Amino acid sequence: MRLSRYFLPVLKETPAEAQIASHRLMLRAGMIKQNAAGIYSWLPLGFKVLKRIEQIVNEEQQRAGHIPMLMPTIQPADLWRESGRYDAYGPEMLRIRDRHDRDMLFGPTNEEMITDIFRSYVSSYKDLPLTLYHIQWKFRDEMRPRFGVMRGREFYMKDGYNFDLTKEDALHAYNRHLVSYLRTYERMGLKAIPMRADGGPIGGDYTHEFLVLADTGESEVFYDSAVTDLSFGDRQIDYDDVEQCAGILDEFTSRYARTDETHDADEFAKVPEDRRRTARGIEVGQIFYFGTKYSDAMGATVQGPDGKPVPVHMGSHGIGVSRLLGAIIEASHDDNGIIWPEGVTPFHCGIVNLKQGDADADKACEDLYNALTAKGFEPLYDDRKERAGAKFATMDLIGLPWRITVGPRGLKNGVVELTSRRTGESEELAPDVALSRIVEIYGKA
Ligand SMILES: Nc1ncnc2c1ncn2[C@@H]1O[C@H](COP(=O)(O)OP(=O)(O)OP(=O)(O)O)[C@@H](O)[C@H]1O
Ligand SMILES: [Mg+2]
Repeated sequence: MRLSRYFLPVLKETPAEAQIASHRLMLRAGMIKQNAAGIYSWLPLGFKVLKRIEQIVNEEQQRAGHIPMLMPTIQPADLWRESGRYDAYGPEMLRIRDRHDRDMLFGPTNEEMITDIFRSYVSSYKDLPLTLYHIQWKFRDEMRPRFGVMRGREFYMKDGYNFDLTKEDALHAYNRHLVSYLRTYERMGLKAIPMRADGGPIGGDYTHEFLVLADTGESEVFYDSAVTDLSFGDRQIDYDDVEQCAGILDEFTSRYARTDETHDADEFAKVPEDRRRTARGIEVGQIFYFGTKYSDAMGATVQGPDGKPVPVHMGSHGIGVSRLLGAIIEASHDDNGIIWPEGVTPFHCGIVNLKQGDADADKACEDLYNALTAKGFEPLYDDRKERAGAKFATMDLIGLPWRITVGPRGLKNGVVELTSRRTGESEELAPDVALSRIVEIYGKA
């Protein structure tokens, strides 16, 4: 992409309505535009990051054996009457009436709908286990939409649902989700800590929330600092291996880590004092096992091995795809702007031409741009007739992790400059060496 042809409406002024860094930076970097309270348009740069995050979620879900599909945003109220949640959900549910006076709603989540799909087609235990998921817009009429996409009313969520014959099988599905989520967040450059949580309106005894530590987080959390040393890394996982998945759950959840809803001062006191931490966190996901709550209410049974009908054991598992943009920025920015982790960056690198119109500089930029593109990268080439300072400021604001700076003076010595957004360190390299460095960086990332 050439910046002269892109749509990147950056703001010079700091928007007054934004209280936290991520919201401020997303507005300033031209990523989102608010259309109504808690409702946003995703401008091209924001949309690109949203899609990158969605892709990582998709890849990791499918690696775990979960099957993608798509359910509608609008749902019939009758399904929710069956589970009893139509009344229980309260004013957060956006209720709609169609022209035939039928009660509809904009889905805040999909347990009822997926259970209805399941019971329509699946009748034998032989078709289990089954985990279906989708990534779809949700609506919750939040009392206080705020912090931009972090607490929107309309937001993008991955929600997955497992169907199993026994509690034991369903707990394996739970563990599998926990493992896949650990991988997912790490690929986005995030440390998200699984913490024991409260079931809330979805209900259930087994549930963990994944929290990214940040001063601006809305949840109060209590944990043993040893949990922050854990990392998933590139270990090989066999998602069908019950023991292996259970072992990872154990490793990541046996230490004290809870949100305020489940915090227990007596238990916390058992953590060595120098490791006790109280902090704030952003909830970027949650997993639940809730047994037969919906299958009982909605008659989702299968014929068991002995021929008798049994209600299926279920769980649901959500990732806040749109909230993740805010969480990543909260965890990774400085005074000049965003610092994208390589895994989610909207463009792999920026190319800054210090002297647009200079034949050598223009040609060197074009060559780099074409070479990067040919290797499957997406560079953002700032080909505008702007001062160098303004170009650098834009690149810093939008946070591309790598920048290649090209100018007539460097080219005389056969070099361009490769700069890391994170460290600010620059290296002078021959253009083809800069190119292979980018290949190397993303090969590893
Ligand atoms: N209003 C919202 N805006 C953006 N993302 C949200 C919102 N509500 C929930 N999410 C995301 O969707 C994920 C799964 O939804 P879940 O039903 O667990 O939300 P929740 O626990 O009600 O969230 P919260 O406690 O923050 O209101 C959450 O972990 C969060 O990342
Ligand atoms: Mg939650």
